Amino acid sequence: MKNNLVNSSRLFKKIYSESPGGVLAIRRPYNFVKNRYPIFFEEAKGSKVTDIDKNTYLDMMCGYGPIVIGHRNNFVDNRVIKHIKNKGNCLTLTQPTQYKLIKKLNQLYGTDKAIILKTGSDATSLAIRLARSFTGKKIILRCGYHGWHDWCTNDENGVLKSVKKNTIEFKFNDLTHVEDLIKKYKNKIAGLIIWPIHTPLGQRVTFPTAKYLSSLKTLCKKNNIVYIFDEIRSCFRVSMNGTQSIYKVKPDLNIIGKAMGNGYPISAVLGNKSIMDQAISKVYVSSTFFANSLDQIAALSTIKYLESNNVIKKNNIKGKYIKKKLEKIVKNQKFKCSYSGDIWFPFISFHEKNENVNKNLRNKFYEYLIEKKIFLAPYHHAYIMNDHSKNDIKKYIYEVEQSFKNLNKL
Ligand SMILES: Cc1ncc(COP(=O)(O)O)c(C=O)c1O
Repeated sequence: MKNNLVNSSRLFKKIYSESPGGVLAIRRPYNFVKNRYPIFFEEAKGSKVTDIDKNTYLDMMCGYGPIVIGHRNNFVDNRVIKHIKNKGNCLTLTQPTQYKLIKKLNQLYGTDKAIILKTGSDATSLAIRLARSFTGKKIILRCGYHGWHDWCTNDENGVLKSVKKNTIEFKFNDLTHVEDLIKKYKNKIAGLIIWPIHTPLGQRVTFPTAKYLSSLKTLCKKNNIVYIFDEIRSCFRVSMNGTQSIYKVKPDLNIIGKAMGNGYPISAVLGNKSIMDQAISKVYVSSTFFANSLDQIAALSTIKYLESNNVIKKNNIKGKYIKKKLEKIVKNQKFKCSYSGDIWFPFISFHEKNENVNKNLRNKFYEYLIEKKIFLAPYHHAYIMNDHSKNDIKKYIYEVEQSFKNLNKL
């Protein structure tokens, strides 16, 4: 039965007349199943989110990645509140919390230096500036989404061609493609930025083939190219120090964000002294809010909670179970579909020849799930949080299976 979404649609109409598109980009109704998904959430606690029509869902999206412990986690929130009440958050100068966080991140990642920022886009943009300044070269090779700033946005409107022209996309897991680009733009490439785990919108999550990441590192080293891991999605999810310990490849710069603050806006660029020190006087980086401490307290508390409760290991156990069950379920369907994302980024996608058929299947599949109060996004993989209980995970798997049964009746 269709969820009651009267308040969501009413508010959307109102906000639409006062804000372009009503809500921004990935939150727009066309990115879900139109008229089936809520548009506004009222509140969240633990693993559940409630919309403004009072429907409560099991949250499998985790705020698009940041929620790694759970919503409104007391351990994190109480420390943030205490800090605001006792010390304040937006002071003209930096508070010592910044040093504590920087020290902790450098320890975890084995880096010399770190800069704390707010969003993933801040961090990726700073990383490519550092790479350009360090090498004195212009071109950036990229593969995947790295944020909304001019150098990497997919949309061309409003962006200078001269800026975009110096950013070139390469194909994931295709070493020859990168070798060819290096030959073509000889001595002009400043940096190569990559998601070590490839999670493109609407497509299967892909993992690096053996030696791919280490071969890229060798190529970068040989050609004086700064090697950058964009770990905005994978940090504090695959391990406490990202994919570098999984694939045993250390980049020149690590970019982290999302899960590091359990929902508070915080990101960082980490790396060795010689590259990072470009920011002493050569590369400009500043924002009124970068020094604010509440997000730093949130990050320190999140990291402490993850460490002392063994959260990543626990989340990975849940992920293993999800993978095992969903892989089995997708095998028995009459439509071509697959599970991807391994134990970290669960995603089901459809692979019939005709894209309209896939679209229809996808809509029906997710429509069923949202009606059963499982919140997933049709074009984006899910995430796992500490507050997902055994029952939550079982319910998710059960409803996915039921949704397939429903599809098979078509
Ligand atoms: C891999 C990756 N890099 C960068 C970004 C940009 O981060 P933000 O949205 O915090 O600016 C995202 C956002 O989803 C991302 O997934």
